[in-house]
Amino acid sequence: MKNLKNWDNKTWLSSDRYIKKFCAFVETKKKLKRDTKILDIGCGRANIISKLAEKHNFTAKPTGIDVVKHQDVKHNIRFIKTSALKFLKRANKFDLIIVKQTIHLINKKDQFLLLKLCKNSLNKKGKLLIFSLKTKNNQLPVFKLFKQKLTISLKKDERIFKNIKKSLKKIKISNFNFKVNIKKNYYIKMIKKRFISCLLNMTQREIDIGVDEIKRNYKNQIKFTDSLICITFTK
Ligand SMILES: C[S@@+](CC[C@H](N)C(=O)[O-])C[C@H]1O[C@@H](n2cnc3c(N)ncnc32)[C@H](O)[C@@H]1O
Repeated sequence: MKNLKNWDNKTWLSSDRYIKKFCAFVETKKKLKRDTKILDIGCGRANIISKLAEKHNFTAKPTGIDVVKHQDVKHNIRFIKTSALKFLKRANKFDLIIVKQTIHLINKKDQFLLLKLCKNSLNKKGKLLIFSLKTKNNQLPVFKLFKQKLTISLKKDERIFKNIKKSLKKIKISNFNFKVNIKKNYYIKMIKKRFISCLLNMTQREIDIGVDEIKRNYKNQIKFTDSLICITFTK
C-alpha cells in the first residue's frame, strides 16, 4: 500500500481542539507524571505526544515512530523513522504506548507480534491504548466508492478487534467521540489529498467522481461525529 501522508496535514485531526480533547481522553486512561515514558506508534506529525510533552514537561521526551518522516514533525519529541516491529524488537520499556489509527496498516501476521512486543515493552501497570475507527454506524462523510472501501476496511477492523481480544485477553473498551463541523470545501480538499487509507489506491478519475458526489450530496457545512474505539490493556 502507498504511504499515508496527509492524514494529519491541516485536517480536523490536527486541529488544536481535537488534539486537546484527545490528550484529555488519554489522561483519563493513564495518569501522567513527569517521569512517565511514552511511545506513539505511527505518530504521523506527532501532534498528540507533542501536546502531552508541552503540558507535562516529561523528564524523557516522548518517543514517536513512523515509517514516514514529515518535514513538519514536532520537535519537542524524539522521532524515529522506522517500522513498529523493527523498533519494538529493541525497545526500552514504556509506561504508555499509543497505537492510534495505525494497526490496520500493519499486516495480519505482524499484528500478533506487534501486540506481543507492545506487551513486553510495557512497564508494570503500563497501559497500551489502541484506537481505531468505530466500525458500527460510522458517520464519516463518504461517496459511493469510498463507502464500499470503508465498509470492507471496517469489516477487516472487526476481525482485528477479535484478534486483539484473543491476544491481550484482559482489555477494556471505550469510545472517543469528536464533533466535527467543517466546510464542504475543506473536506473536499482532504479527499483530494487522500487523507485516509481507503482513498490511497483510487485513480484520479475515481476521486474526481467522488468529489462531485460529495458536492451534490452534502450541505455547505458538514457536521458529524468522528468516533473511535479505544482498547485499553493494562500490564
Ligand atoms: C492513519 S495515520 C495515524 C497517525 C496518527 N497516529 C494519528 O492518529 O493522527 C497512520 C500512521 O501510521 C504510519 N504507519 C503505517 N505503518 C506503520 C508501521 N508498520 N510502523 C510505524 N508506523 C506505521 C503511517 O505512516 C501513518 O503516519
